[in-house]
Amino acid sequence: MATYQPKNILITGAAGFIASHVANRLVRNYPEYKIIVLDKLDYCSNLKNLNPSRSSPNFKFVKGDIASADLVNYLLITESIDTIMHFAAQTHVDNSFGNSFEFTKNNIYGTHVLLEACKVTGQIRRFIHVSTDEVYGETDEDAVVGNHEASQLLPTNPYSATKAGAEMLVMAYGRSYDLPVITTRGNNVYGPNQFPEKLIPKFILLAMRGQPLPIHGDGCNVRSYLYCEDVAEAFEVILHKGEVGHVYNIGTKKERRVIDVAKDVCKLFSLDAEKVIEFVDNRPFNDQRYFLDDQKLKHLGWSERTAWEEGLKRTMEWYMSNPDWWGDVSGALLPHPRMLMTSVDASEETKAMISYSWNSQNNTVASTPVNGEITSSTSTVTYSHIK
Ligand SMILES: NC(=O)c1ccc[n+]([C@@H]2O[C@H](COP(=O)([O-])OP(=O)(O)OC[C@H]3O[C@@H](n4cnc5c(N)ncnc54)[C@H](O)[C@@H]3O)[C@@H](O)[C@H]2O)c1
Repeated sequence: MATYQPKNILITGAAGFIASHVANRLVRNYPEYKIIVLDKLDYCSNLKNLNPSRSSPNFKFVKGDIASADLVNYLLITESIDTIMHFAAQTHVDNSFGNSFEFTKNNIYGTHVLLEACKVTGQIRRFIHVSTDEVYGETDEDAVVGNHEASQLLPTNPYSATKAGAEMLVMAYGRSYDLPVITTRGNNVYGPNQFPEKLIPKFILLAMRGQPLPIHGDGCNVRSYLYCEDVAEAFEVILHKGEVGHVYNIGTKKERRVIDVAKDVCKLFSLDAEKVIEFVDNRPFNDQRYFLDDQKLKHLGWSERTAWEEGLKRTMEWYMSNPDWWGDVSGALLPHPRMLMTSVDASEETKAMISYSWNSQNNTVASTPVNGEITSSTSTVTYSHIK
C-alpha cells in the first residue's frame, strides 16, 4: 500500500482535546513535518494541551477562526500547507440543544470555508475531515452488526446533524473539485486534556470533590470509549495509509452503559456508588447506542491498545495531578451544562506560544517576535493572487 508523505500540515482545533494529542504525537514522531495549529481558543480549549510541542522547531500555533476565509487562505499559502486535518468544531451535544446556530456556524460554515480555501489555493494533497459515530444516529439495542462506512446517516440531535452536514460538503468538494478527502467517524474518546463538560472527566472531577455523579435518564444508554493515545495513533495511520475518497470508522466493539462508567469511577475513588450516583432528567433526545463496524481501519493496521481499566486509571491520575487545568469549571460540572460559547483570553504565559493572531475587522495579523510577546498588527495581508 502506498504511503502518503505530508510536508506541511494544518491541524484545526488542536488546542482542544483529541487534536492536541494528534498534534503532539506528529510533532514528536515526525520532526521533518511542519505542524501548524489553527484554533480560536474557545471555552473548552487550553493552550497548555500543546505544551509538549511548544518549544519544537516544527510547531507553530495560530489563534484564529476557521470561518475567516482571509486567514485560512493566508495560512495555506504562506505556510505552503499540503495537508489539512480538520478537528475544529462545537462538540458538546448538551450545548447544541441550547444554541444550535453556533453549531451550524462553526461546524458547517467553518468546514465550508476550509474547503473553499482548498479549492482556490489548489495545493492540498489530503483533507482529513474528522466526523463522529453520532452521524449514523442510534443503533438498535439488539443489533449485532455495527454501522459500516456505507451506512445511512440519520443524525438525531443538532450537533450530529451539523457534523453530517459538514460531511456532505466534504463529499461534494471531493466529487466536484477532486479535492483528496478522507473522512473519519469515531466513537467516544476519553483521556487527559478533555474539557470536563464530557462524561468521564466530569465524573472524575465530581468524585474528586465528593459531589454526586449525575446520570441522564436511567443510565442504560450504551457508549463505546477509546483512549486518546489510541485515537491519535489511528489518525497517524489514516494520515499515511488512508485512501482518498474513503471513510474510516474509528471504533471499538467494547461497549459500556453510562451507569457502569459511573460505577467504575466510584470504584477508583472508593466511593459507594449507591450513595453517590444521582439520576437527573434526560436530554431532549439521548441516543441509546452507537455501534460501529471497526474492520476497515483494522485492515490498515490499527487496533486499540489501551484496556479500559488502564485508560481510566491514567485519566484519573492526570485529573488528580491537574485539578485546575481550565480554572473554574463548576459551570461545566452541572448535570446539563450550557456554556457561553465565547473564546478564552490566553494567559501571559500561553500568549508567548501564539505565532499569529488574526484581526478579522481589518484583515491584519499580529505576530510574535522572538522574545515571545505579541505585538499589535504588524502586517496587512492582501490576496490579489486569490480569486
Ligand atoms: N470527543 C469525542 O469523543 C469525539 C468523538 C468522535 C468525534 N469527535 C470529533 O473530533 C473533533 C474534536 O473533538 P474534541 O472532543 O477534541 O473537541 P473539543 O471540544 O475538545 O475541541 C474543539 C476545538 O476546536 C476549536 N474550535 C471550535 N470552533 C472553532 C473555529 N470556528 N475556529 C477555530 N477553532 C475552533 C475549539 O477552540 C477547541 O479547541 C470534533 O470534530 C468532534 O466532532 C469527537
